[in-house]
Amino acid sequence: MKKSLSVLMAVLMVAVISVAFMGCGAKKSGQLTIGANIYNFADNFMNGVMKPELERYASEKGAKIEIVDSEGQQAKLNDQIDVFITKKVSVLAINLVDPASAKTIIGKAKKANIPLVLFNKEATEAGAMASYDKVWYVGTNSAESGIIQGEMMLADWKANPSWDKNNDGMVQYVMLKGEPGHPDAEARTKYSVQVFMDAGIKVQQLALEADPNWSTQHGNDKMATWLTSSFGKNIELVICNNDGMAFGAINALKAAGVKIPIYGVDALDQALSDIGEGTLNGTVLNDGVNQARATVDLAVNAATGKSATDGTNWSLQTDGSKAVRVPYVPVTPDNYKEFQKR
Ligand code: GAL
Ligand code: CA
Repeated sequence: MKKSLSVLMAVLMVAVISVAFMGCGAKKSGQLTIGANIYNFADNFMNGVMKPELERYASEKGAKIEIVDSEGQQAKLNDQIDVFITKKVSVLAINLVDPASAKTIIGKAKKANIPLVLFNKEATEAGAMASYDKVWYVGTNSAESGIIQGEMMLADWKANPSWDKNNDGMVQYVMLKGEPGHPDAEARTKYSVQVFMDAGIKVQQLALEADPNWSTQHGNDKMATWLTSSFGKNIELVICNNDGMAFGAINALKAAGVKIPIYGVDALDQALSDIGEGTLNGTVLNDGVNQARATVDLAVNAATGKSATDGTNWSLQTDGSKAVRVPYVPVTPDNYKEFQKR
């Protein structure tokens, strides 16, 4: 009895020790670890395009990545960063919740001497990027997406005189805007219509509603409300800062049995099939796959003490933004099939 008890004890101890080892065992000795987040897992583009590629590509590069959900709360992200620092990750890859709160995060990384790659949401505070020599940004040139979207809307508007329903030579539009203060949302909202004005075509904004979560629900609710409002019948164009909101607006348009030209940004799979079906007129590829790869490439280089873009195809802007900017591409009924093959 005594003997079997001690055998049992020994077995138990081995089990306890191996469980303890497995806990930290996920991190092989010397393996590079990336502490990462997505500002909100509910976001179609961030969760559907960037997150899977961050995971896939990090593992291809032999790095271990942990991606947490900041649930749209900057305070939560601040805590998550503290945890990553306590865990001694090799490098941080961070998707800001509040673009005006970058300095706090950069300060934390600097104090812990951990390199930091910000991605998708560019810091808006002056001097933030200059405050630490080991911080970089991976994203896009926000204005470019608005300009490309504007150019395709302008070309279609010119080619379809019947879109000017009231024949006043002016574009009566509604705007589904993303997160206020987000450089992408601000630039898309501004430049998409600026293109018309620059071409000498007047625009009239009938309504604009912003959503910090860029959500389909928001697109659906706002569009449904607008369609039944006093100006509902006058809407000639629906401009969406992203596809997610466009999907909602398309549902509302279908439900009301009306067809109004509508454009998005991101080129999500659903948007490509909507273009094929003719329910979406165009979108702009937001190349999340390459943004994810650049984020991991820079993170791995920084963590191993190499220069950020060493051995990669990326180049850093020399304007003080310390940014890699992945180009946007127009997606129309003429070329959408090429993107389905990607
Ligand atoms: C944009 C993207 C949006 C949304 C946003 C989140 O680049 O177009 O759909 O994901 O980022 O920050
Ligand atoms: Ca008009």
